[in-house]
Amino acid sequence: MRAVDLIIKKREKGELTQEEINFFVQGFVKGDIPDYQVSAWAMAILLNGMTARETTDLTLAMVHSGHILDLTGIVDIAVDKHSSGGVGDKTTLTVLPTVAACGLPVGKMSGRGLGFSGGTLDKMESIPGYRWDVNTDEFKKQLKEKGIVLTGQSLDLAPADGKLYALRDVTGTVPSTPLIASSIMSKKIAAGAQAIVLDVKVGKGAFMETLEAARELADLMTQIGELAGRKTICLLSDMNQPLGHAVGNALEVKEAIETLKGGGPEDFREHCLHVSAHMLVVGRRAKDLKEGRALAEKALADGRALAKFRVLVEAQGGDASYVDDPDQLPKAKFVEAVKSPRSGWLAQVNARDVGEASVLLGAGRAKKSDAIDHAVGFVIHHKVGERVEGGQPLFTVHANDEQKLAEARERVLAAYVFSDKAVPALPLFYDADDAALK
Ligand code: URA
Repeated sequence: MRAVDLIIKKREKGELTQEEINFFVQGFVKGDIPDYQVSAWAMAILLNGMTARETTDLTLAMVHSGHILDLTGIVDIAVDKHSSGGVGDKTTLTVLPTVAACGLPVGKMSGRGLGFSGGTLDKMESIPGYRWDVNTDEFKKQLKEKGIVLTGQSLDLAPADGKLYALRDVTGTVPSTPLIASSIMSKKIAAGAQAIVLDVKVGKGAFMETLEAARELADLMTQIGELAGRKTICLLSDMNQPLGHAVGNALEVKEAIETLKGGGPEDFREHCLHVSAHMLVVGRRAKDLKEGRALAEKALADGRALAKFRVLVEAQGGDASYVDDPDQLPKAKFVEAVKSPRSGWLAQVNARDVGEASVLLGAGRAKKSDAIDHAVGFVIHHKVGERVEGGQPLFTVHANDEQKLAEARERVLAAYVFSDKAVPALPLFYDADDAALK
């Protein structure tokens, strides 16, 4: 078999066999198939799609490219969550400690930023010393003893996804339903999850821009999960505007900590409570969503969720004094509050523009080897539906380069649409899959 023939087959809209998919994935992981051929293959998949069967085979090939974690004896039920990627999406930072504080141990493997969307690991690395290269024994020990782990793709779990993910980020091959579905599900299955809560983002700042596309991704992932014998719940959440206020690594860590302290932006807090409630139900710590939500609210209110975050940071070598005093987090040289050019109701704050502007400031990567600037990003002061007066601060730019600041400012100003008439707020979730929990 030759890699080039499989690229051509996909280019010509052919359906790859399981053997061909295994050959490609194994060759990539071993280093026999170079990055440029894998990039061409990924582009052919993006353009021509994959059947559900091919996607399942790709997922399983990626699962079997490394170890599969067996968490039997460590936790009574292994629950995991994953977001399909968004702007200002710091959900994991708040949800993981919240559910862990409610007595549901969680060990999660997270990714880095992808395209215009931020990555949990990049955010956590704003805290000095935080280690994401936890090995399998450490993962199990920490999960058993501390009830919480948040690591990177360092455990030899689904290494094919780790390599492909990094390539896709810089070759324009992220927004492909089969590639996203196999990427997410391979990580979750390899990490030993028995029940998975997926947060599929939909809108301008998501890889799935329409509800139809998001539902298709959700259905595909549910199907893969069921085939692999994992209970899979998909939530569909809005990503037309950034989630919460902060966009950018350290700024988002700060906002997640504020939320863990019982504050934080209303939309972000609500989002976290909803995701937490689902995890607590599938993790058998709550009988229904109402009870799950009440447990999560209590853990945020009484400081247990924040304390759990501190435990996590400390366990992974991070400086926990940053949790106590987030003002120590990296700060940008230039901080500029940009005023609203007019009065009106906010009809749009395009999350993709904000995400792309934050990459421009250095919060994300333009190529694989780029370093992240943890200090830079935005604080978006208002949500769609709110009334803003001309001259009022609209957003704040945090930058380390004046020219980039000027470019990013214009880019984000262009993300706004004002209306002279009142505009309804955007929903947080669309038709949540609650039926599966009854
Ligand atoms: N999140 C992932 O883990 N993989 C993708 O491809 C997109 C979002």
